[in-house]
Amino acid sequence: MLRLANKRIVLGVTGGIAAYKSAELIRRLIDAGAEVRVVMTTAAQEFITPLTLQALSGNPVHLELLDTDAEAGMGHIELARWGDALLIAPASADFIARLAHGHGNDLLSTLCLATRRPILVAPAMNQGMWDSPANQNNIALLINNGIQLIGPAAGYQACGDIGLGRMTEPDDIALAVAESFQTGALTGFHVVVTAGPTQEAIDPVRYISNHSSGKMGFAIAEAARDAGAAVTIIAGPVNIKTPDGVSRIDVISAQDMYAATQQCLERIETLDSLKGQVIFIGTAAVADYRPDTNATQKIKKNPDNPNITLQLVENPDIIAEVAKRSPKPFTVGFAAETQNVIDYANAKISRKNLDMIVANDVSNKQIGFNSDLNAVTIIWPGGSKTLDIASKHIIANGIIQHISSLQ
Ligand code: PMT
Repeated sequence: MLRLANKRIVLGVTGGIAAYKSAELIRRLIDAGAEVRVVMTTAAQEFITPLTLQALSGNPVHLELLDTDAEAGMGHIELARWGDALLIAPASADFIARLAHGHGNDLLSTLCLATRRPILVAPAMNQGMWDSPANQNNIALLINNGIQLIGPAAGYQACGDIGLGRMTEPDDIALAVAESFQTGALTGFHVVVTAGPTQEAIDPVRYISNHSSGKMGFAIAEAARDAGAAVTIIAGPVNIKTPDGVSRIDVISAQDMYAATQQCLERIETLDSLKGQVIFIGTAAVADYRPDTNATQKIKKNPDNPNITLQLVENPDIIAEVAKRSPKPFTVGFAAETQNVIDYANAKISRKNLDMIVANDVSNKQIGFNSDLNAVTIIWPGGSKTLDIASKHIIANGIIQHISSLQ
């Protein structure tokens, strides 16, 4: 099955007759769950109109490098940061040459220079042009620079020739894009993720909770799945669809989350094939305390006493208990801090006996709780690494990549 849910694809369209197939490609990418933003070169606009691609992608089409409106809306650097991948389809021989030599004289070529995300290129040209030594040298440069080629395919060409050079069909391009996200780095591992807030009941109608939306945890679950792991997410009360291929256990309170985590790990540990290959990632914002009693009836307002006192008791520390298990799962915590972020995160690593911690500064309203963005510092016994502000999906991929590198 094609899996591109929550993936953001910047689609570059260059000048060639195959540009008409970009319309179909956008549909395939969107059907697979992706969000698509289109960038067209001037030559591409000779073959298909921006309006068509705007209607299909549901987003404004980006055309000019020095367009003041576009820069104010989403400039080239922002667009480069927005995408999880940059796909160029069709890629003409001329664009391939400019990409190979690092030109930056229009929006699309500048994006290619600015992006730190994977670039995928689906060439489309006449078979003679494809075979030419100049083009083959340029293709070799792209491959050396880590750019992934999709195709080209062989067959009848618009000019009447038969041979290699046709753009790969949209279905197969969409499949290749989806596969490019499946790294396989955690194949054979089981990843258990906690996500979202917990709710600690005061009475049948009130509770104590926090602002966690679950977005970070669900993005981690998707990234782990894309890396080939079997994934279970244990989610507090959140309003997020379960990612395809991920098992989900819903809980309400910290005590429920603790019980579900222990049961889940016990079950996984009985699977011979997974012994020693369990990773636990605690993204949940678990309430440290709960009211010591959960009133059976709604607490009524007392006109004689304007103040009431809630007595709180400590909840189990889920992740600290996971780290005590034998065999110990590779245990990754998150630290949500509003000050002394790195010092407090370091203290948590040792107090909870974690293998890695991901610190985020939740005093910054742009990131952290309930935002689509985050910026984190990953800390492990061997060092630390910062992931700059980006979508939670990009941050999650970076975290999963790092966890994979430590296995
Ligand atoms: O859900 P979002 O809106 O996307 O927001 C993401 C996030 C800010 C919630 C997330 O990035 C994050 O920082 N999660 C950890 C929040 C937190 O509670 O941190 P903490 O410093 O209080 O806890 C440290 C670690 O111990 C965490 O891994 C936590 O899951 C775990 N813990 C805490 C208390 C407890 N009783 N049991 C636990 O397992």
